[in-house]
Amino acid sequence: MIQLLVKFLELMLSIFYRGRTYPRFFVLETVARVPYFAYTSVLHLYESMGWWRKADWLKMHFDQSWNELHHLLIVEELGGNKYWIDRFVARAGAFAYYWIIVFAYMISPRSAYRFMQLVEEHAHHTYDEFLQEHEEELKQQPAPKVAIEYYHNGNLYKFDTFQTAGAVEPHRPKIENLYDVYVAVRDDEMEHVKTMIACQQEGAQANCKSPHSPDRTEPSKSSEAEEDLTQEAVAQELVEMS
Ligand SMILES: [Fe+2]
Ligand SMILES: [Fe+2]
Repeated sequence: MIQLLVKFLELMLSIFYRGRTYPRFFVLETVARVPYFAYTSVLHLYESMGWWRKADWLKMHFDQSWNELHHLLIVEELGGNKYWIDRFVARAGAFAYYWIIVFAYMISPRSAYRFMQLVEEHAHHTYDEFLQEHEEELKQQPAPKVAIEYYHNGNLYKFDTFQTAGAVEPHRPKIENLYDVYVAVRDDEMEHVKTMIACQQEGAQANCKSPHSPDRTEPSKSSEAEEDLTQEAVAQELVEMS
């Protein structure tokens, strides 16, 4: 069912945005970051009501939306939001999508994460195809200023914080042209896929933590073992995907 819904959305995008790459990316990035906002809304509500205190997850999902915001700023600098019709489609879609995900997340967080995993896989695949088809042409074009600022000079703290796998390496990809920008964006999408897979695992509430969480500074032996299990599950799922 979830898979069918994602396939339907993919089909709609490919039919209506055939040959209009940047407007398509603009719609994709506007809509695709909304679930992270929906997750934080629900978690914030639970926390405010005293039902479930999980500030670490609030932070992780906010950090994911921060990364996606920069993908959106990049495509806006490339002119993806030039026409009102694209802005309208993206924003109307985002509004509807927000409420759908809020209710889906309240009913079944795992299904809401699974849905987002598939959306992120689609984004990764879309950018990968784009890079393969336009490599030479993209290498001749300059990188948007916002991408250089974000990947080279910006505060990438928020980027590193949502990655759930392994040690925290400062992420500073080479950005010399537009090709490098979309390699970085594509790779970001894969980090989101991994995070979404990790969030669906058994015991994820205890194990899935932001790398900069205070709880991670001195992990216990049992929490390290549980994190290993989560990472194994992520790796296994990625193998099945490929
Ligand atoms: Fe993105
Ligand atoms: Fe994404």
